[in-house]
Amino acid sequence: MVTSEKVRPDLPNILMELPGPRAKAVIERDRKVISPSYTRSYPLVAGRGEGAIVEDVDGNRFLDFSAGIAVVSTGHCHPKVVAAIEEQSRQLIHMSGTDFYYENMVHLAEKLAATAPGGAGVPRRVYFGNSGAEAIEAAMKLARYRTGRDKFVAFTGAFHGRTLGALSLTGSKVVQRQGFGPLVPGVYHAKYPDSYRRPEGVSAEDHAVACVRWIEDELFRTLLPAEEVAAIIVEPVQGEGGYIVPPPAFFAELECLANKHGILLVFDEVQCGMGRTGRMWAADHFGVVPDIFTSAKGIASGLPLGATVARSEIMDWPAGAHASTFGGNPVAVAAALATMDLLASELIDNAARMGEHILDRLRDWPERFPHAGDVRGLGLMIGIEIVHDQRKKDRAPELRNRIVEMAFERGLLVLGAGRNTIRLSPPLIITRDQADFAVATLEECLRLVE
Ligand SMILES: Cc1ncc(COP(=O)(O)O)c(C=O)c1O
Repeated sequence: MVTSEKVRPDLPNILMELPGPRAKAVIERDRKVISPSYTRSYPLVAGRGEGAIVEDVDGNRFLDFSAGIAVVSTGHCHPKVVAAIEEQSRQLIHMSGTDFYYENMVHLAEKLAATAPGGAGVPRRVYFGNSGAEAIEAAMKLARYRTGRDKFVAFTGAFHGRTLGALSLTGSKVVQRQGFGPLVPGVYHAKYPDSYRRPEGVSAEDHAVACVRWIEDELFRTLLPAEEVAAIIVEPVQGEGGYIVPPPAFFAELECLANKHGILLVFDEVQCGMGRTGRMWAADHFGVVPDIFTSAKGIASGLPLGATVARSEIMDWPAGAHASTFGGNPVAVAAALATMDLLASELIDNAARMGEHILDRLRDWPERFPHAGDVRGLGLMIGIEIVHDQRKKDRAPELRNRIVEMAFERGLLVLGAGRNTIRLSPPLIITRDQADFAVATLEECLRLVE
C-alpha cells in the first residue's frame, strides 16, 4: 500500500471529496448490472486491504470498523492467511468433500469440536457449507430429522440469513420478508430480551426470564404444542437486530425450557462467534452448551465457509441426507485453519482487551451526547443506539445513517445494525491507536449532529 512519509500507515488518509473519480465510475457501472437488492450505506469502492486498513480505488485509506460485516476476523489479507491460501491453491483447489475425503477438512472439524462450548467432553460432528444461511439451513434440517418434529421457535429482531428456511427464522426487517412468502411454515417468534427497552421497574434478568416464560406460558398453551417443536434457534448476541447482549439468565432459562420439552437448542454464532466477543464462542460467556451451533463469517477471514456443529449423537443422518458441492472447500478450510491458529494465539485476547478499552471510553456517552441512548457490547461486538430523546428512547434511524456517512467521510468505516444502532465490528487485530481513532471520530460526528 502506498503511503506518504507523514501519513501513518495504520490510520486513515482521505485525499479527496468522496467518492473519487474511479469510485464514481465503478458505482455508475454497478448500477446497471448489479442486483439493486444490495444495501450500500456509502460509496466505498474497495481496492485493497491490509490489516484494519482498506484503500479505495482512488487511493483513499479507511480504518475498517466493519470488517466486511464482521468477516475479516484476522484483518484484511493477514500474511499467514494469505500464505495458507497460496499454498493450498497450488496443491488442490477442489475435489468436493461431499464425495471424497480431505485431511484438512477433518483437521478443521477436530479443531471446531475441541473448542466447542462444553469442550472435548461433548463429542461433536461438523457439516461444512459455504455461508451462514447454509449453516442455518443444515441446522434446521438436522433438528427436524433428529426430533421428527417440524416447528421452530426463533426471536424478534433475529437475523439468520436470506434463503427461505433461514429467512423464515429471520425477524429483523420486514423488507427482507416482504413479497417472498409463503415462508417455511411452523416458525414462531418470541421476544428477544432487549435490556435497554425493558419495561420500567423490571430488572434486565427478570425481563429476560419473562421473555422465555412467555414461550412456556403463552405460546405453548395457545398456539404451538411444545412436543411439535424441533428447535429453539437463537443468536447469543443479536447481530443484525442491533448488537443486543441478553443477560445470562436468558440462556439458563432457555436451556431449562428446551430440556424440559425435548427441544434442541441451536445457537447461531455466525456473527458473534470466532472470537469476536473476546471468547471463542459467545456461548462461552453464558455457560450454556447448545446442542447445535452454527459458524460462518469470521471463520475463514473472508473466504466463504459455513459450519454446522452438533453433538455427535444428533448429527447422525444417512449418507445423502444433506450435502453441498463446495462445502468445506480446501482453500477456505486452509484459511480457516490459519484463522483459528491466529485467534487462539493472540486475537481472541486482543478482542477482549480492545473491546473493554472501547467500551470503557464509550460508557459515559449517554451522559455526554443526548443522541447516544445506549452503549453495549461484548468484546469487539459493540453497539451504540441512537435516539432522538433519551427519555422517550425514540429511535433515530436517519440520524444514525447520517453519523455512519459522516464517519465514512472522515475515513472510518462502520455499519448500522437494527433500526438505529451503530455497530462496531472491527477486525480482531486492531491496536489501541486505531480504537482511539474510531472513538474520537465517532465523538466528533455525534457532536456535529447535535
Ligand atoms: C447471526 C447470523 N446468522 C446468519 C447470517 C447469514 O449469513 P450469510 O450472509 O453468510 O448467509 C448472518 C449474516 O449476517 C448473521 O449475522
